[in-house]
Amino acid sequence: MPDPSPSARDRNRQPARGEGHSRHLPFQPGDYDQHGFEPAAGGEPPTALIDIGCGDGCFLAQACEKWPGLISFGVDLSESAVEATTRRLDASGITKFAAVAANGFDIEFWSRQVPEAVRSSPRPVISMWFVGHEFSQGKPERIVEFFAELYRYFPRAEVMLGEINKISPRDFAQDYELSIMPEFLLFHELSHQGVLSWQDWQTVLTEIPYELMQERRFDEVRSLSGAPIPASFVWQLRPERGGGVQNGQTESTGSSDGFGH
Ligand SMILES: C[S@@+](CC[C@H](N)C(=O)[O-])C[C@H]1O[C@@H](n2cnc3c(N)ncnc32)[C@H](O)[C@@H]1O
Repeated sequence: MPDPSPSARDRNRQPARGEGHSRHLPFQPGDYDQHGFEPAAGGEPPTALIDIGCGDGCFLAQACEKWPGLISFGVDLSESAVEATTRRLDASGITKFAAVAANGFDIEFWSRQVPEAVRSSPRPVISMWFVGHEFSQGKPERIVEFFAELYRYFPRAEVMLGEINKISPRDFAQDYELSIMPEFLLFHELSHQGVLSWQDWQTVLTEIPYELMQERRFDEVRSLSGAPIPASFVWQLRPERGGGVQNGQTESTGSSDGFGH
């Protein structure tokens, strides 16, 4: 048959390198819906956002644009990232935000700088886009410890987590030519970043006081066992009901809502 049907053509098409085998929409950082960031609980949009590892503030700025009235807080280890975030949000005319340079793992430290308005906001969300591997040291138990602490300090906040997975060369064998991950994992290894495996993340999920509400998997590779392993994923996590340190430890930051702008 000279002209196969469109479906047969699609089946026979060779994917391009980096395209992978996603059963989902392509991953486009910065796009909320692609990240799976949908206000799920009761369909209510978030009222406050804490972005850990906020980078240049792109996500915070887009979130503030998407949800007018959103109040936000960014934390990043890099001073220049915090400056870039501040410049970006200032330039967008956003005033209800604060950003600090700190180690995201040290929640006890940076949580004291979260404005009171963010802490007491009715629907707080914490986002963590590709930062967990920066402080995991490759140990799932460190991420478990981090989430236990996060829950203690922000027991009402949902968490949006985006991460990449460590995939072994054996599991890559069938997809090596298609995936961009071998290079990506190599440079993460060279810079001593602790990317965890998909199996590690499954263990983490069973040991943290959060429940998985939504999951998006991206660019799955065919593992040796036949079970697909996503190159990256997004989880929306709901806190279990319970206690935490909560707002009593807030230090005043100089203005009534704590933003000081
Ligand atoms: C891969 S980038 C992701 C940036 C941003 N979240 C995004 O998705 O565009 C990782 C960010 O985490 C920051 N970072 C690295 N280690 C950190 C730590 N221990 N605590 C907080 N931020 C950290 C880096 O400075 C960088 O901005």
